[in-house]
Amino acid sequence: MINPLRGMKDLTFEESARFVHIITTAIGISKKYGYSYIETPILEETGLFKRSVGESSDIVGKEMYQFEDKGGNDVCMRPEGTAGIVRAFVQAKLDRRQNEKFKFYYYGPMFRYERPQKGRLREFHQFGCESFGEGSVYEDFTIIQMIGDIFRALGIGYYLQINSLGCPECMPLYRENLVNFLNDCKDELCEDCNRRIVTNPIRVLDCKNEKCQNILTESPKLIKSLCSSCDSDFEKLIKLLNSENISYEIDTNLVRGLDYYSKTAFEFVSNEIGSQSAIAGGGRYDKLVEFLDGKPTPAVGFALGIQRIMELVQMPEIEREGYYIGAMEESAIDTLFHLASKKRTTDKVTLEYSAKKLKAHLKGADRVNARYCAVVGEDEFRDGTIWIKDLIKKEEFTISQKEF
Ligand code: HAM
Repeated sequence: MINPLRGMKDLTFEESARFVHIITTAIGISKKYGYSYIETPILEETGLFKRSVGESSDIVGKEMYQFEDKGGNDVCMRPEGTAGIVRAFVQAKLDRRQNEKFKFYYYGPMFRYERPQKGRLREFHQFGCESFGEGSVYEDFTIIQMIGDIFRALGIGYYLQINSLGCPECMPLYRENLVNFLNDCKDELCEDCNRRIVTNPIRVLDCKNEKCQNILTESPKLIKSLCSSCDSDFEKLIKLLNSENISYEIDTNLVRGLDYYSKTAFEFVSNEIGSQSAIAGGGRYDKLVEFLDGKPTPAVGFALGIQRIMELVQMPEIEREGYYIGAMEESAIDTLFHLASKKRTTDKVTLEYSAKKLKAHLKGADRVNARYCAVVGEDEFRDGTIWIKDLIKKEEFTISQKEF
């Protein structure tokens, strides 16, 4: 038997129903917020992710499904959705329509060659939204509010962590202060942190090592070094969250694993699914369009981790629906075939192709969760009628096939 690859999973039966429920709920809500669907390729040029997610990030440095295709191109299975959507945005020259706003939602598989564990897969699915052309912090708030709406509709509890990652005006000075601090205590920091002091010092703040975290409690904090624009946006975001009663926690060490963020960064976390607890993440990325050769365009977005949310979601009870149709005599099946085709234009219909006893048909209707079990026996075949049982109301009746 051939198994799926390590860290990759099939979605079958009950799981696929959960998956579809999450996606359709998220689509319904994102449409209300003005988002429309975008689809981009799963395979992209490796350079796209190097330039956007960042060469020094773990995703690009260690986790890419990267290979040379038959034409000798360096390609990569997308580890996330934002970079491809920004590329598509620039490709379609939408960056030139500076007075317009564009809002896209997407969902699909992402690939990261991580060490698989509970909540961490090598192929996983995201639902995400990207909003282009809106620099106002009201949009950051609206995105957070939208994620809250999605989780509420799915019946999921969460807590929200926020931070500001500054901008090219305030970040360089902060980085310098941080590097000075880190260099002073580098002997006490782990090997990874020592490497990051040189490659990407901000990521040191995200180290999971307890000893490093203790040292970092004394580190300079970015939100205390923000320039006036970043500072007033962060203040405004907090005011909006407070006024709408959305609870949050400011986490000054929240830096996210992707290098394209500026200003607002956030994560939605669940404490019910173990150590891989982030169920959504996102933030503002005002420089990325420009970085991928477009005209400067502010942007903000997020992605939900579908598999992690599947662990949490309570499925609504599925109501019995439509018809199960069966015959008790082989000779009636052609007639039923015709009836089923007609009925299918308005209702969900399951047709059983072999003749069976009534009891077996009732069981069959139960199995497909049909509301009505419709059966043609010897008498009904002769009279041109059909016997129907309403499995919700527990009522039985016989009508003419024509009426049916
Ligand atoms: P991210 O935080 O890397 O952000 O991923 C978003 C979500 O995907 C995470 O919160 C988590 O639920 C899920 N996820 C990530 N890695 C795995 C994994 N190995 N297995 C299962 N689930 C996983 C992004 O990808 C950004 N593109 C989000 C964004 C959109 N920012 C702005 N726009």
